[in-house]
Amino acid sequence: MTRTAASRARINPFYVMEVMRAAELRLAEGGDVLHLEVGQPSTPAPPKVIAEAHRVLDEDVLGYTTSGGLEPLRARIAQHYDEWYRIDVAADAVMVTLGATGAFVAVFMAAFDQGDRVVVPSPGYPCYSNALEILGVEVVDLPTTIETRFQPTVEQLEALGSVDGLILSSPSNPTGTMLEADDMRALTDWCKANDVWFISDEIYHGITFGQSAPTALEFDPDAIVINSFSKYFSMTGWRLGWVVMPEVLREPLTRINQNATISAPTLSQMAAVVAFDCEDVAESNIANYAINRQILLDGLQAAGIDKVAPADGAFYIWADVSHLTDDSQALGEQWLDELGIAVAPGLDFDRVNGHRFIRFSFAGTSSDCNEAMCRLKEWVS
Ligand SMILES: Cc1ncc(COP(=O)(O)O)c(C=O)c1O
Repeated sequence: MTRTAASRARINPFYVMEVMRAAELRLAEGGDVLHLEVGQPSTPAPPKVIAEAHRVLDEDVLGYTTSGGLEPLRARIAQHYDEWYRIDVAADAVMVTLGATGAFVAVFMAAFDQGDRVVVPSPGYPCYSNALEILGVEVVDLPTTIETRFQPTVEQLEALGSVDGLILSSPSNPTGTMLEADDMRALTDWCKANDVWFISDEIYHGITFGQSAPTALEFDPDAIVINSFSKYFSMTGWRLGWVVMPEVLREPLTRINQNATISAPTLSQMAAVVAFDCEDVAESNIANYAINRQILLDGLQAAGIDKVAPADGAFYIWADVSHLTDDSQALGEQWLDELGIAVAPGLDFDRVNGHRFIRFSFAGTSSDCNEAMCRLKEWVS
């Protein structure tokens, strides 16, 4: 057979997967691994959510839900915007999706035609570009630097010519940096004035270490806002997210969701209704992230890795390691091999400059963070 995969399937691999494979191999051979590469909580879902899931499994038929999602969950998500941001969101404006990832694909399909141009700041979360490219949308890479906290500015957008969309996350993966309210307002104003979709990935909201993150809806009720239960609520494997849809996209997005997934997992949807009553558990996870964050900030400084992005939120530290190497992937391999420390190479998040950066995650345990910093300090000295 000579048939091959479609050209759209030729997207970039995730280098961190290679790191994880190498880490697994090391473990299988009896070595130890300190996990600073993982981009997910190491904690389970809140106990109340788990208890609710058990009840639902015992008592419910678990059929499909409507494509918008279970009404009580949509209503609870809408209420969350009132509780956190004092913003009115109609339950009908919320569509429940297969994680934030399911929301990206549905939103990109609903908002953009082939050949449209969408701005993706780098360093950034790689699935944005990959999913856009799969759909034949042109990705307009927008390099950012530490001077603007690795976030885009209106001046940069002005220089790009005509574009149709902008997607970003604040707090960001991989940099952990956040847009301040005025900067976000400037971006949303520019998008409104230029008829550009503003897509705000707010998956790390709630995981902040100073000011809380503003939602784009505060500045533009027609922004497309994506969020998820994966990070703040520690429910990655439940595959549940949502999008707050501007009026004009509600019908198109629902039709796409009907055809692409029918509905998000019913068990997860039913259990997630109580997640919003579990902020005590989420906040105690965040208190642990804060401890780990400080361990890494101090430890990296002590190891001479002191050019790091301001770690405003999420659970990452984006560090410039150009004084140690011009190939951060090779450095990561060396650290795994010699020190048992697994990290995410920068190339996953920035094709051009990523070879000078490493992403350290502090979503794991404090003991892993502590031990990794001790080994790193010794290695450097
Ligand atoms: C910025 C960002 N958006 C989206 C996702 C994926 O989210 P989900 O698990 O809800 O699909 C991740 C996962 O790491 C992420 O970092």
